[in-house]
Amino acid sequence: MMMMVSLSFTRWVLTTSLLSSAVWASTHIVHEKRDSAPTGFAHLGSAPDDQILSLRINLAMGNQAGLEAALQEASSPTSPTFREWLTKEQVESFAAPTVETVQAVTEWLTSFNITSTPITPAGDWIKFDIPVSTANQLLQAEFSIFNHTESGQTSVRTLAYSIPSDLQAHVKVVHPTTSFNGPLRGRSPITAISAARFTPEFEKRATVNCNATITPACLQTLYSIPTTQVSSSTKSSIGVAAFSGQNANTKDLATFLKDFRPDLPSTTTFTTELFDSATNSQTGSQAGVEANLDIQYTVGLVNGIPAVFEDIGSKTQDGADDGFLDSINDLLAQSSPPLVFSTSYGFDVESDLSLSLTVAYCNAIMQLTSRGVSVTFASGDGGVASTPGVQCTGKPFPPTFPTCPYVTLVGSTENVPEIGAGLTAGGFSNYFPQQSWQADAVNAYIAKLGTTYAGLYNASGRAYPDVSAQGERVEIVVDGSTGLVAGTSCSSPIFSSVIALLNDELLTAGQSPLGFLNPWIYANPQAFNDITSGNNPGCGTQGFSASEGWDPVTGMGSPNYAAMRTAAGL
Ligand SMILES: *[C@@H]1O[C@H](CO)[C@@H](O)[C@H](O)[C@H]1NC(C)=O
Ligand SMILES: *[C@@H]1O[C@H](CO)[C@@H](O)[C@H](O)[C@H]1NC(C)=O
Ligand SMILES: *[C@@H]1O[C@H](CO)[C@@H](O)[C@H](O)[C@H]1NC(C)=O
Ligand SMILES: *[C@@H]1O[C@H](CO)[C@@H](O)[C@H](O)[C@H]1NC(C)=O
Repeated sequence: MMMMVSLSFTRWVLTTSLLSSAVWASTHIVHEKRDSAPTGFAHLGSAPDDQILSLRINLAMGNQAGLEAALQEASSPTSPTFREWLTKEQVESFAAPTVETVQAVTEWLTSFNITSTPITPAGDWIKFDIPVSTANQLLQAEFSIFNHTESGQTSVRTLAYSIPSDLQAHVKVVHPTTSFNGPLRGRSPITAISAARFTPEFEKRATVNCNATITPACLQTLYSIPTTQVSSSTKSSIGVAAFSGQNANTKDLATFLKDFRPDLPSTTTFTTELFDSATNSQTGSQAGVEANLDIQYTVGLVNGIPAVFEDIGSKTQDGADDGFLDSINDLLAQSSPPLVFSTSYGFDVESDLSLSLTVAYCNAIMQLTSRGVSVTFASGDGGVASTPGVQCTGKPFPPTFPTCPYVTLVGSTENVPEIGAGLTAGGFSNYFPQQSWQADAVNAYIAKLGTTYAGLYNASGRAYPDVSAQGERVEIVVDGSTGLVAGTSCSSPIFSSVIALLNDELLTAGQSPLGFLNPWIYANPQAFNDITSGNNPGCGTQGFSASEGWDPVTGMGSPNYAAMRTAAGL
């Protein structure tokens, strides 16, 4: 099941007959390959020569090491320049490819009569449309049609591609090539994490028992979240991502606020930013469970902090990753992106996307966090299998998507008092190494684990989730009905709202926003409610167990607002 991407260095010489000029008759090197398509994809044959492919190239940043160092300085609690986030211009000056990179890649493409256009302000991503025949020559590839047999959706991919050896250092990834989306859920290639568990039912709010039903009032009590309206001049902000045609309904939000936050002005709402031909339809029957959940558990908790619904449609600019990269690039292009950005969608498992593409995507997130934006994701709902339905019995636990270290992954708790929720995807990445800021906490857990699950998880990988929040029996309104939902989809917006409220206080006090959170989170265990029981079954096992300190079910724990406030320097 685990499809490992191998970087191979098989070489062969490109025959000159394929070339318009001899300039690029240099050795081609396989840039990325996989032995076969992932389980569930059938090879249908070669792609027609004249079919147009929309390709993206991620160019090497001019100074990635400089950006990494600057972000480390800004995010390490012990750094003298802690929380001195970078400006848009500073980030772009690190991220912009060098003149040599641009020239080398432009010459290569020009020799195939290809003109590219940048799709990011820094110019580190470019795109162009070419026929399959040209793509096969350019990349020494065999673009073929693959059928995702469960859904019947076909896509054009290649199992390997090569680029001239002189370009190895300049080109990070060409996309779409060797990345295959995992098993589709419903009609969409992205899993709306909680949707399957939605069962409309009416509740009696007057008698809410927080151990049975989670509402904003429960969260305010449980996590000591402030309830007072923020100043209208607040500089804090929060955004939630939407994909796969999920619509956030304003009428449902109004109903939700009337029922659960009657203390907020009835005009409290959100703004919408539409990208890639998204529409955010306001037809009641088209309200999305995921989108409504995300909006209700941000707007319903942030006490008037501006909330943005970032709606990514199907006409994505980023090739074939269903808008994930677009959602980050769209924010990178803004002068004032929301200071917390929560995403409750994910691919099934880490290995759905190739290592190079995953790293390139993570580098875009790194750019955003460098500007002081906290990027949060739901960790996934399949326990150690990451996503429900992933077949992994007797095999290593497949890590979730994304495991990018610049993302704060949020797992789920349930009940009051809280225990870890069994659905939480938690574990260890195979793509990103363990991060220095989590080493002590994570190694302490691994030591306790001893030989349990040896060989089933990667002890040297980036461990997740980082934190957790309630994710079972969460009450929302969809198309006028109240119902309960479950999933880490609940936890990410809830945790993000806490960050937005802390940012409001920090900015009011003339301080910087929390920005890239993880080094600060692991340095402040006392700021979280340590959850010490619960486990996340999957792959035919009982999964990991929560325990004192960090664990792969609840991370460092759930928010303790008062303690987080102190830890933030307020
Ligand atoms: C590029 O365009 C020129 C002029 O139209 C043509 O002669 C040449 O064959 C083209 N090269 C390739 C690789 O398509
Ligand atoms: C893809 O696979 C499904 C399931 O086997 C099949 O019904 C469908 O016809 C296939 N599509 C194509 C284009 O072959
Ligand atoms: C909370 O609910 C769970 C089941 O959902 C139950 O097992 C537990 O005993 C309840 N706890 C309390 C304190 O009522
Ligand atoms: C385990 O993680 C390390 C660090 O990221 C990585 O280099 C290694 O390839 C991973 N192992 C497997 C089996 O994927």
